[in-house]
Amino acid sequence: MAGAKAMVKRGTLYGVGVGPGDPELMTVKAWRLISTAPVIAYLAANGKDSTARDIALPFVPDDAEHLVIDMPMRVEREPGEKAYDFGAAAIAVHLKAGRDVVMLCEGDPFFYGSFMYLFARLAKDHPTVVVPGVTSITASAAAMGRPLSARNEVVKVLPATLEADRLREELMTAESAAIIKVGRHLPKIRNILGSLDLATRAHVIVKATHDDQRISPLLDITEDSLPYFSTILVYTGHEPW
Ligand SMILES: C[S@@+](CC[C@H](N)C(=O)[O-])C[C@H]1O[C@@H](n2cnc3c(N)ncnc32)[C@H](O)[C@@H]1O
Repeated sequence: MAGAKAMVKRGTLYGVGVGPGDPELMTVKAWRLISTAPVIAYLAANGKDSTARDIALPFVPDDAEHLVIDMPMRVEREPGEKAYDFGAAAIAVHLKAGRDVVMLCEGDPFFYGSFMYLFARLAKDHPTVVVPGVTSITASAAAMGRPLSARNEVVKVLPATLEADRLREELMTAESAAIIKVGRHLPKIRNILGSLDLATRAHVIVKATHDDQRISPLLDITEDSLPYFSTILVYTGHEPW
């Protein structure tokens, strides 16, 4: 119609879980969205490293635009908040122009995933779809060959960043626990597990399902920190297998 503004269809934001490392653990839906994406977005530590991108790369179209959200790796929250603001604004430009954006998320987007901060900024104004992925804790249990839980057992997911008192309290009553974000908090975790007589029940899984995956009893680890992609599984229940 003369004089009328052409209606631009809005793009959709997809928060896509790419799984814990092995690209074959990606869902068919994730693969379909990634392999047809006009714009691929991901967080990159200090502007460089992105495990989510590395996992998805075999399926990213050659002509896809890469929207790299530079994430300064610091303990303080402020630089992170600025990076999310910047990332959300850059994604919104594409969505408003009618282009879909596929945001790559390691593991599952809503399981301790940074995607939630972009979701919080964008989902109220833009069509947004969250595509779940295989999480690191289920991948770690599979890699270890030991179920996470059985019958009525409760599984606790404990960020190692919690205060020592809270961690001790939680672990004291835990039947099965997955301790994530261990990194430099390893000495604290080691002390608590030792004092609760649980150190012999703990295993470390580094980079579950990656080519360089490593699994070891906690007692065999001599270092004082673990790589970022490490999970400690503690199982105190009766093992029926
Ligand atoms: C911010 S959380 C993100 C979790 C992720 N969204 C998921 O679904 O598993 C990061 C923590 O997950 C754990 N993690 C992620 N990927 C892992 C892997 N492949 N192997 C072992 N632990 C992993 C580590 O404890 C890491 O510090």
